[in-house]
Amino acid sequence: MASASLRWVVFTTLVFFFVRDCSGQLVTGFYNATCPNLTSIISSRLNILLAADVGLAAGLLRLHFHDCWVRGCDGSVLLNSTNGNVAEKDSTPNANSLIGFAEIDTIKSDVEAACPGVVSCADILALAAEDATSKVGNVSWPVPTGRRDGTVSIASEAVTNLPPPSFNFAQLVQNFATFGLDTKDMVVLSGAHTIGRTRCLHVTQRLWNFTGVFNTTDPSINATFVDFLKGVCPSNAGTRQFVSLDSTGQTFDSIFYNNILALKGVLGSDSELINNAQGLQIINTMLANISFAADFGVSMVKLGNVQVKTGTVGEIRKNCAVINS
Ligand code: HEM
Ligand SMILES: *[C@@H]1O[C@H](CO)[C@@H](O)[C@H](O)[C@H]1NC(C)=O
Ligand SMILES: *[C@@H]1O[C@H](CO)[C@@H](O)[C@H](O)[C@H]1NC(C)=O
Ligand SMILES: *[C@@H]1O[C@H](CO)[C@@H](O)[C@H](O)[C@H]1NC(C)=O
Ligand SMILES: *[C@@H]1O[C@H](CO)[C@@H](O)[C@H](O)[C@H]1NC(C)=O
Ligand SMILES: *[C@@H]1O[C@H](CO)[C@@H](O)[C@H](O)[C@H]1NC(C)=O
Ligand SMILES: *[C@@H]1O[C@H](CO)[C@@H](O)[C@H](O)[C@H]1NC(C)=O
Ligand SMILES: *[C@@H]1O[C@H](CO)[C@@H](O)[C@H](O)[C@H]1NC(C)=O
Ligand SMILES: *[C@@H]1O[C@H](CO)[C@@H](O)[C@H](O)[C@H]1NC(C)=O
Repeated sequence: MASASLRWVVFTTLVFFFVRDCSGQLVTGFYNATCPNLTSIISSRLNILLAADVGLAAGLLRLHFHDCWVRGCDGSVLLNSTNGNVAEKDSTPNANSLIGFAEIDTIKSDVEAACPGVVSCADILALAAEDATSKVGNVSWPVPTGRRDGTVSIASEAVTNLPPPSFNFAQLVQNFATFGLDTKDMVVLSGAHTIGRTRCLHVTQRLWNFTGVFNTTDPSINATFVDFLKGVCPSNAGTRQFVSLDSTGQTFDSIFYNNILALKGVLGSDSELINNAQGLQIINTMLANISFAADFGVSMVKLGNVQVKTGTVGEIRKNCAVINS
């Protein structure tokens, strides 16, 4: 009797893992049994880290996005360069720009102390991005887990895949379509720019040298706002000068879209969102329905599912910055 039920447990467990491996799907609570305290470990550490620097929320959200856009959400953005390989984090779009690496390593250490060798860095990043975002705004989404970590990180792939802020609406739509995300996802996820900042170097051309003509300004920006931006980002702005992406700084809200509609977008790609009838309609509907927070969550789940590795593909990295030896 006892051995029969033991066989049954073994059988159903094997079926469970087999089915899980073959489906390639993430599930909510993947670590319920293997790391039951995972979300509180991440949450407690983030309380401390965000108290020290609230800007980390924006950093982690962007880090998750940049991870997913290169070889899927597999933690590849977290890997350090090695002898003979320049990793994603040292690519032009990411270097001197992404933040949060040391903080992810700290969270990983906490998680390893409680559940060694169990939780992937890709999942820690996805969970931390959600938790940090929810702590700076009235937004949250379920984070299906079960991602495995990749072992490859190549700088040139980040350059190829990540959309630059000079993209127009059609190029942004095309870029997101490559990853199975639609126009609404693109418009809604651009709302992540309701928090965080940009280096002036992404804006100075719009202010001072539009289309390569010196002292010419992008006519699609409100003139008063141009004066403000020129004050924060002078034509000789250094590489470490920044401007907030949104007037409400580090608060996650929909005011970003009101600013875009008022021609007060900071990045060219954000201003582009209203340069298209469909983009305009998505924004107006979202504002009228007060659905930004809900829509953002839906699109974040789609982003977090991009080309994920599951089952026995990849590994569970011990240290997020290096592949297991
Ligand atoms: C639609 C295409 C997008 C473009 C062209 C774009 C471009 C940029 C640029 C140029 C910056 C400033 C980086 C720097 O200073 O070097 C930035 C910052 C940021 N982006 Fe995006 N982005 C896009 C989509 C997204 C998405 C989908 C998310 C997340 C869901 C996101 C989240 C962020 C955040 C939170 C920041 C601020 C980071 C910080 O303060 O450290 N972006 N983005
Ligand atoms: C984990 O627990 C949550 C809450 O009880 C539940 O909703 C979820 O389905 C569980 N997931 C798994 C894979 O057991
Ligand atoms: C879960 O993690 C939190 C934060 O690290 C800790 O305060 C709590 O004691 C942990 N609970 C268990 C049951 O390990
Ligand atoms: C990865 O690189 C960072 C920055 O250079 C460094 O601080 C960290 O110690 C490195 N991690 C490992 C495991 O080599
Ligand atoms: C927070 O968001 C929820 C769901 O989107 C909404 O029902 C609630 O009114 C919001 N609360 C605040 C304080 O904005
Ligand atoms: C303005 O843009 C042109 C074309 O991109 C470039 O050659 C020139 O160096 C820029 N001038 C300044 C002052 O940035
Ligand atoms: C730039 O243009 C403004 C007027 O639009 C003018 O007052 C200013 O002298 C110009 N600056 C340079 C360096 O050409
Ligand atoms: C530009 O912004 C200012 C300040 O918010 C506002 O007073 C002005 O009406 C705006 N101009 C246009 C053309 O919308
Ligand atoms: C709210 O969203 C629904 C679709 O989800 C749409 O049919 C409706 O027109 C929207 N309301 C407004 C006021 O835009």
